[in-house]
Amino acid sequence: MSEALLKVEDLRVEFPVRGGWLGGTTGIVKAVDGVSIEIGRGETVALVGESGCGKSTAGNAILGLVKASGGRILFEGQDLLALPPAEGARLRRDMQVIFQDPVSALNPKLSIAHSIAEPLIIAGMAGAARKARVAELLSIVGLSPEQGRRYPNELSGGQRQRVVIARALATQPKLIVCDEPVSALDVSIRSQILNLLMRLQREFGFSYLFISHDLSVVRHIADRVVVMYLGTIAEDGGADILFQKPVHPYTEALMSAIPLPDPKAQRARRQTILAGELPSPLNPPKGCPFVTRCPIAEERCARIRPVLAETGHGTRAACHVRNPAALPG
Ligand SMILES: Nc1ncnc2c1ncn2[C@@H]1O[C@H](COP(=O)(O)OP(=O)(O)OP(=O)(O)O)[C@@H](O)[C@H]1O
Ligand SMILES: [Mg+2]
Repeated sequence: MSEALLKVEDLRVEFPVRGGWLGGTTGIVKAVDGVSIEIGRGETVALVGESGCGKSTAGNAILGLVKASGGRILFEGQDLLALPPAEGARLRRDMQVIFQDPVSALNPKLSIAHSIAEPLIIAGMAGAARKARVAELLSIVGLSPEQGRRYPNELSGGQRQRVVIARALATQPKLIVCDEPVSALDVSIRSQILNLLMRLQREFGFSYLFISHDLSVVRHIADRVVVMYLGTIAEDGGADILFQKPVHPYTEALMSAIPLPDPKAQRARRQTILAGELPSPLNPPKGCPFVTRCPIAEERCARIRPVLAETGHGTRAACHVRNPAALPG
């Protein structure tokens, strides 16, 4: 296999939590606690898990929007965390982001064409070439030149997200982090935008880190899936095999919540309901992070933290009960 575009190793992000009596630091949230992710060129890797598990924080650390407290972020072989900040920022120009909410992502005072032109202006592209590139980008995402003259409030939610996508593509990035890119959109237009994202990737060959809590979306788009729980990785692997044969009980529970298109299959399926709340990340369980909600937990699970290890069929899972290799060596 050729060298990965992005290789994240043992990434850690900690947030101090204030609010004690004297307003001092009362604890530390380990929002991302040792996460490793590899993304090949032209590949889509999905990051999934419940709200608060650290998906956005991991994505933001890769983008340099929050500070990592440990680990390595190798982008085309160079460790962004070890480089001088200015050099890291220069390499990160090959990364772009698409956030959930296109309304807050766009300046209401700028025309659509102007919004799309902004990254080109920053990159120093001049007059005629820039105008031509904006026209091309509008057409690539399925918007008309007339729509380019409008303002964000004159477009629908789906059209606005197309503008955000055009702007992300403007400087030909190698990696696009999509953080819940269709969650704020009307259900009826989600698949249009997803299909657009997939078509653009086929055409231009960039990679996606695709953050989503919606597994039916992920199944549609991802080559590989990384399942996060309380800042750690519970399981990862190829999307096909992970959806067919989840090993970690947490993955199983997430998968069983996806509605199946066939009602008969839906009735026959064993539903794993996740009991209880996500534990506070301020005070995570000592052993397996999932132990407090796990339907198959054993005694050692509360004592020993499992490591992410090969399952024998192409995935990795951090579960003592289902994967003996998860015992730390
Ligand atoms: N700036 C911050 N300061 C303190 N804690 C933070 C900060 N940002 C995130 N957190 C905490 O870090 C943890 C992970 O948050 P994050 O936003 O990454 O989760 P998420 O998986 O993206 O959730 P969602 O699906 O709701 O977007 C949460 O416990 C959150 O409260
Ligand atoms: Mg998030």
